[in-house]
Amino acid sequence: MALIRDPRPLSYDYLPPELPHRESQLKEMSALFDRVRDGGAQNIMLKGRVGTGKTASARIFTESFISEMAGKGKRIVKAYINCRSKTSSHAVFVSIARSFSSGFPSAGISEDQMMDAIATHLEREGVHLIVILDEVDYLLRRVGSDVIYKLSRFSEFSERPQNISIIGISQQDAISLMDEAARSTFRRSNVILFPQYSAGELADIIRQRAELALAPDAITSDSIELMADISARDGDARYAIELLERAALMAQATGNDQIRAEHVRRASAESSVMFGEESLENLNMQELLVFLGALRRLRASAYATTGEVEEEYRAVCEEYGQEPRGHTQFWKYLNDLELEGLVSTELVSGKGRTKRISTDIPVEDAIAVIEKRLGA
Ligand SMILES: Nc1ncnc2c1ncn2[C@@H]1O[C@H](COP(=O)(O)OP(=O)(O)OP(=O)(O)O)[C@@H](O)[C@H]1O
Ligand SMILES: [Mg+2]
Repeated sequence: MALIRDPRPLSYDYLPPELPHRESQLKEMSALFDRVRDGGAQNIMLKGRVGTGKTASARIFTESFISEMAGKGKRIVKAYINCRSKTSSHAVFVSIARSFSSGFPSAGISEDQMMDAIATHLEREGVHLIVILDEVDYLLRRVGSDVIYKLSRFSEFSERPQNISIIGISQQDAISLMDEAARSTFRRSNVILFPQYSAGELADIIRQRAELALAPDAITSDSIELMADISARDGDARYAIELLERAALMAQATGNDQIRAEHVRRASAESSVMFGEESLENLNMQELLVFLGALRRLRASAYATTGEVEEEYRAVCEEYGQEPRGHTQFWKYLNDLELEGLVSTELVSGKGRTKRISTDIPVEDAIAVIEKRLGA
């Protein structure tokens, strides 16, 4: 059976049915939209670093809100605008108008006229519009707050029907980029924070995608954990999913029916600098031997304990005719390797000083380089 059963859930724009660990943000959005349920409008802002689920949450929330309201006989439409690709406020208004009326003219009409046409259309149809302004900080830097100000004239401050709500999305504090008039329409309390994901949370996200995309048992829990650990440095779900996709493609291309730790390391190495001889420049003979011991031990698994690595280190010393150093020295060398960024270690809970060692360097490549160096 093919390792990848359905490639779609591995793609960056696939929207999963549920977003693990974003339940509270979705609840907050829903609570703030009570105002819209009551016939008003609402402006909210989603804020968080790269890959923290802002865009996905906005899309999932809007979809579910639209169908909830449809059930109550209230029509809601949405306009999703990625502001990074819009270089003028005119372009933003055009894509808003086009999102519900494809024949909307784009030339020869002013922004104010366009805004009026949008409002008239909404009023006539009895529709409420949710405008998602993704990466809104680009818009604010490039053209200022005008778009936001004009859209929010239809919020609680106006005499007109409140039929336009805004969901702004930004990695930074976008409200501080607005001028006074626009700022007054976004309350500070309407900012929903998207914290970076922990390794455990990323593991759940990866597991969800693996279940949707891969054959059963196509990935070991060790491999999931290693992917999660690597992507947890930035707390970035997009990178985690990318790693899963690349590792799956790599495993499949080489005829494996399971994604192993080495596929994960290679997938991660593809996006960073290649491992070469220069990475070993700062290591002395003993550190090289400890590193080789660790790498050999990590051939078959994603993680190894300090005890296992020390045992392998002794075998390596014998092989190369070197006197193995004592326990304390071994720990110091291991620490040096970690400082060089070659391995990661973490304490194993409940096991005293025992640590768990892993690496995101492709092990076979590194072994080849070290063996060559030691043989010379
Ligand atoms: N909690 C989650 N569960 C499942 N998938 C998630 C989760 N959070 C994010 N993702 C997925 O990770 C990828 C990145 O998420 P998203 O695009 O929402 O990030 P973002 O916060 O908008 O990042 P950016 O600021 O870079 O645009 C998407 O493919 C998304 O579906
Ligand atoms: Mg986004």
